[in-house]
Amino acid sequence: MTKSKSSKGVYTLPGNKEKYQLLDRKNQEALLGGGETRIASQHQKGKLTARERLHLLLDDGSFQEIGKFVMHRCKDFGLENQHYLGDGVVTGYGTIHGRLVYVFSQDFTVFGGSLSETHAEKIVKIMDLALKNGAPIIGLNDSGGARIQEGVVSLGGYADIFYRNTRASGVIPQISAIMGPCAGGAVYSPAITDFVLMVEQTSYMFVTGPNVVKTVTHEEVTAEELGGAATHSTKSGVTQFSCANEIECIKNIKQLLSYLPANCEELPPSYPYQQPDSETRPDLDQLIPENPNHPYDMREVIYGVVDDETFFEVHRNFAENIVVGFARLAGKSIGIVGNQPASLAGVLDIDASTKAARFVRFCDSFNIPLLVFEDVPGFLPGTDQEWNGIITHGAKLLYAFCEATVPRVTVITRKAYGGAYDVMNSKHIGADINLAWPTAEIAVMGAKGAAEIIFKKEIARAEDREAALEAKVEDYTAKFANPYRAAHRGFIDEVIHPRDTRDRLVRAFEMLKNKVDKMPRKKHGNIPL
Ligand code: HXC
Repeated sequence: MTKSKSSKGVYTLPGNKEKYQLLDRKNQEALLGGGETRIASQHQKGKLTARERLHLLLDDGSFQEIGKFVMHRCKDFGLENQHYLGDGVVTGYGTIHGRLVYVFSQDFTVFGGSLSETHAEKIVKIMDLALKNGAPIIGLNDSGGARIQEGVVSLGGYADIFYRNTRASGVIPQISAIMGPCAGGAVYSPAITDFVLMVEQTSYMFVTGPNVVKTVTHEEVTAEELGGAATHSTKSGVTQFSCANEIECIKNIKQLLSYLPANCEELPPSYPYQQPDSETRPDLDQLIPENPNHPYDMREVIYGVVDDETFFEVHRNFAENIVVGFARLAGKSIGIVGNQPASLAGVLDIDASTKAARFVRFCDSFNIPLLVFEDVPGFLPGTDQEWNGIITHGAKLLYAFCEATVPRVTVITRKAYGGAYDVMNSKHIGADINLAWPTAEIAVMGAKGAAEIIFKKEIARAEDREAALEAKVEDYTAKFANPYRAAHRGFIDEVIHPRDTRDRLVRAFEMLKNKVDKMPRKKHGNIPL
């Protein structure tokens, strides 16, 4: 605070007016982050500033900043002479559609958004508040990584964040948007959070960048190829949402939140729903092709069942042989997992298993009922799958369903073969209601494969082997390529016309809304990782 000279030549402390003006100046300075030039450079790259992003994300006027005047404490490499109020991250709380959220938004205009000890402390402070108050935390990441001038204290700051990410996991929803660089160990905070969104062309994530890759493996690869949104949404599955631009990214965060409760003790928000006279959906009767080997799009089943325009797909471009996402049924949030016959015949492979397992666990953590649509010919055979651990990865999905205590309903639309029948939320592993369409085929395997094995000798002895095989295939098909054997046993609760699916599901989830189920007391399970 500056002293000023009075008319008598003595120094006086500033009056209240000057104190208020000083505060105004500091507030103004903080809003400018790294300054006009760097803000212009940020815009030139097609990126918004940290504050512009928060403005778009939060309800108008709801943002309350915390730690606006924090400054770093580094005294090395000339940083003692460079200070910016806020130290490269804007933190605080606000509302989205009227619901409380905690936010941090890294400011690339201040030391490239790099994470110093104090920058980390600001993030940690709001993470702690979010956890104690039971509301989601959203991180908008745009950072050059560890503040290089600070060395190990910066690394410690990251670890403080990772620790809290893990402690908060399953307690409050955690969402990470990657809106710029994200490299080195810094990627592990987003990776622990529940959902990662990336902006196409302007964001990337990798553990080691293209230069190190070139030195170590001699591969030439661009940052975009190595860790851009396209790569992580299709190849690695690191991100669940690839967004065309920052505005779409922020829109997706808001929509995602609309399906989620604030914390694990609460139920997801419920939206008003006027029950119509009939819930019948006749179009669904036309969906399954006459030839059981022909594909159809499981999304059509989903659209035909859930409330209009409420299906919000997660991980759309990764492991397309399984579809997962949120929707509303009669106004209430549900999580949907559906095999996708339009991609690899809906087979379960490593990626599909891990994608679905993580989604199932998220839903179960946050009291979101699960709806499964099943049309699965089994697990994908082959050395690639076996050597890369389909056993362990497939077991993740099995484990995830087995431990889920939320209301769980399955609809078998067509194939339910082999181990995949058990895995896909069967009655045996705790599903509450299991329905099947008349087109369901519930068996150990497809009829041809089954006949070839169990009638091998008989067919070999036959004069006309082809005819003998065909007869056996027909026999097996008649016995097992239907839902009735399973229904006789009670493994299927009802065989229904496709048009009645929505009606049955609305009733089922209404009936299950007070379900109470608990896992045996334990420290935590040991999911096959
Ligand atoms: C301090 C940094 C910084 C960092 C960038 N800046 N990264 N300052 N620490 N890590 C500063 C720059 O000096 C520059 O300051 C401003 O931010 C903008 O950077 P530019 O290089 O001009 O921007 P751009 O060309 O867009 O390149 C952005 C970038 C590049 C790709 C992020 O800056 C970069 O490669 N930075 C280093 C990345 C890195 O190696 N980080 C450490 C990763 S290891 P001025 O004053 O000019 O505006 C890590 C370990 C974490 O993070 C481990 C956790 C367990």
